[in-house]
Amino acid sequence: MTATLPLEAETAAHRTERIPVAILGATGSVGQRFVQLLENHPWFRVHEVVASDRSAGKTFKEAADWRLESLVPEETAGLTVKSLDAELESRLLFSGLDSSVAGEAEDDYSNRGCAVISNSRNHRMAADVPLLIPEINAEHIDALETQKQRRAGGGYIVTNPNCSVMGLAIALAPLHKIFGVEAVHVTTMQAISGAGYAGVASYAILDNVIPYIGGGEEEKIEAEPRKILGDWKNGKFEDAPMTISAQVNRVPVIDGHLMTISARLQHKASLDAIREALESFTGEPQRLGLPSAPKHPIHYIDSTDRPQPRLDRDRDRGMAVTAGRLRKCPILDFRLVALVHNTIRGAAGAAILNAELLKARNLL
Ligand SMILES: NC(=O)c1ccc[n+]([C@@H]2O[C@H](COP(=O)([O-])OP(=O)(O)OC[C@H]3O[C@@H](n4cnc5c(N)ncnc54)[C@H](OP(=O)(O)O)[C@@H]3O)[C@@H](O)[C@H]2O)c1
Repeated sequence: MTATLPLEAETAAHRTERIPVAILGATGSVGQRFVQLLENHPWFRVHEVVASDRSAGKTFKEAADWRLESLVPEETAGLTVKSLDAELESRLLFSGLDSSVAGEAEDDYSNRGCAVISNSRNHRMAADVPLLIPEINAEHIDALETQKQRRAGGGYIVTNPNCSVMGLAIALAPLHKIFGVEAVHVTTMQAISGAGYAGVASYAILDNVIPYIGGGEEEKIEAEPRKILGDWKNGKFEDAPMTISAQVNRVPVIDGHLMTISARLQHKASLDAIREALESFTGEPQRLGLPSAPKHPIHYIDSTDRPQPRLDRDRDRGMAVTAGRLRKCPILDFRLVALVHNTIRGAAGAAILNAELLKARNLL
C-alpha cells in the first residue's frame, strides 16, 4: 500500500486484513486505552496482550481491572495474557509498559525485528529514536534508517512524548514555525490517570493539589519539546533553541492535563496573528486522512473560562488539543491555556497515530 491511495480505498482494502498487533502493558491505564481505541480500527487488530507475571496466564478480562466507560471489547476479552519473555507472533507492538521494564523489553523486541511504538520515557531522547508527533515532525521518521543499522533484526522503536509535552508541543508548534518561540513558562495541572491506576492514593489527592510529580516530570517537559520542535539534519537531531521552565501539579481530575503557558517570540506578533496560527494549524495526518487524525489538531475556544478538563478533553475523539484565554503577558509576549487528553492524545491515541503514519509511509 502507498500513502497516495485515497483513504476510503485504503481502508476498504484493509478491513479484512488488519495487521495483528501486540499490546505490551495491556492491563494498565494506557494499555486499556489501546485496547479500547483499537476495537474496530480499520488497519490494526489486537492479537496479543502482554503484562507482568501477576497477569500472565489469565484471560485479559480476568487480568485487567477495566476502568473505561465502554465495555471490554469482545475480540480482546478472551485473549490469554502473555508474559514479557514470551515469543510474540505480532511484528507491530504498542507499548504501555511501566518504565521500570520498558527500556530493556522494547530494546529486546526491536532487536528481534519488531516495530515498537512506545509511550514510555526510556528511549525518547535517544540519538536515533524519533520522538514523533506526526503533525509537527513527520520527517523525524528518517532517523529510523540510522536506528535500524544498530538493530540485528531490522526492527525499530518510535516514541511519543510525555502526556503534558503533547499538549505543550502542539500548542507551540504553529507559533514556533511562524514566529520562533524563544522562551516558555508552563504550569501544568495534571490528571490522576497520568500516574497509572495505582499511582496516587485517593486519600492523598482528594480535596488537595500536590505540587510535585516524580519521575523527572518537569525535566521531561523542559527537554522533550526542544527535540520535537527541532530538526533531523545530517544524521542528527538538532534541538530547537528555546528555554522552557516547567512547574507541575497533580490535581483531582480523572482525565485531561490542563496547562497555563506564557511565551516570548523571536518575531513579535499580534494576538490575532497568534490565534490565526493556532486555528489554521494542520499537518501530515490531516493531509493523509489517517484514521485517528483529529480534524483540527488545535481547537480554539472563545469563552473566558475554557478549556476545562471535564468539558473539553474529548474534543475530536480526545485527539485534539483545546486552547483558549489567549492574551498579552506583561512579562513575556503572550499567554494562553491548553488542554490535552492525557491517555488518548497524550498516550495511546498518539502511538496509534504514529503507527498509522508509519503504515502510510510503508514502514510497517
Ligand atoms: N497514564 C498516562 O497518562 C501516560 C501518558 C503517557 C505516557 N505514559 C507512560 O506509559 C507507561 C504506562 O503507564 P500507565 O499509566 O498505563 O501505567 P500502569 O497503569 O501502572 O500500567 C503499567 C503496565 O505495565 C505492566 N507491568 C508492570 N510491571 C511489569 C513487569 N515487571 N513486567 C511486565 N509488565 C509489567 C503492568 O502489568 P500488570 O497489570 O500485570 O501489573 C501494566 O500493564 C509508563 O511508562 C508511563 O510513564 C503514561
